[in-house]
Amino acid sequence: MQIQSSDPPRSTGCVDIFRARFEELSDDCSLLSEAEIERASRFVRPTDAARYRAGRTWVRRKISTELGVPSSDLAITAGPHGKPGLPGDPIGFNVTHSDEEIWLAISAGPVGIDLEPPPRDDPVPLFRQIAAPGEWRQAHAEGITAERFLLLWTAKESVLKLLGTGLMTDPRTISLGSLTATGPVTGKIAGRWISLQRLPAPAGAVAHVATFGKRLEIRLYDYECPEIS
Ligand SMILES: CC(C)(COP(=O)(O)OP(=O)(O)OC[C@H]1O[C@@H](n2cnc3c(N)ncnc32)[C@H](O)[C@@H]1OP(=O)(O)O)[C@@H](O)C(=O)NCCC(=O)NCCS
Repeated sequence: MQIQSSDPPRSTGCVDIFRARFEELSDDCSLLSEAEIERASRFVRPTDAARYRAGRTWVRRKISTELGVPSSDLAITAGPHGKPGLPGDPIGFNVTHSDEEIWLAISAGPVGIDLEPPPRDDPVPLFRQIAAPGEWRQAHAEGITAERFLLLWTAKESVLKLLGTGLMTDPRTISLGSLTATGPVTGKIAGRWISLQRLPAPAGAVAHVATFGKRLEIRLYDYECPEIS
């Protein structure tokens, strides 16, 4: 689904989420910057390089449509911990991917999004590595499933991607408490209001999106044909 001219304009707290399958994206690097081409060349596995090129090209196309500037003119910068952004922050955006899919969240301001497939390893030690002490005590008493681990993990990672620090911040140092409900839910983290919502995801996977503020409205634009955008 494309954003139509009849769609209401995006207001503060509204996040548009575009999802695409890598198999539908073309691996064309003509729109990429030298830095992006260089980054692609550093992947060890050719499939990872191809996915990066195709995904970044698609992200450029979506953002350029959004801003009305040619994709090749788009300067995508990186924050101190690597969060991609735009000079002057005309919009906020964030990306997450699995092996098969890439998701792009676009908002008026900062946004964080995370999609994770089911864990291959035992979720209990994984949960312990990311849970604040209170989260661990409660979950340990109630039982830790793969879904419970993924709910906490994607909720925390979307918040850390919103903040822009990613895993430079130890996930155990933030406590989400009730913020891992299916939402939308709102609470204060590090003195700032944050809204968080679980997103529909492929079987076994879990995804969350996070924004600053007390209001969060999601619009999903699913699996469109990317070449016509
Ligand atoms: C961001 C991070 C959590 C990604 O986790 P992941 O589950 O492996 O990957 P996801 O698919 O969910 O997200 C990857 C995307 O997040 C975005 N991203 C990268 N760094 C980010 C950050 N600090 N904050 C928010 N988003 C970030 C990028 O768009 C990236 O996709 P791209 O490389 O194709 O552009 C992890 O890489 C991280 O913590 N990075 C920051 C710390 C770091 O290592 N910095 C070193 C560079 S200075």
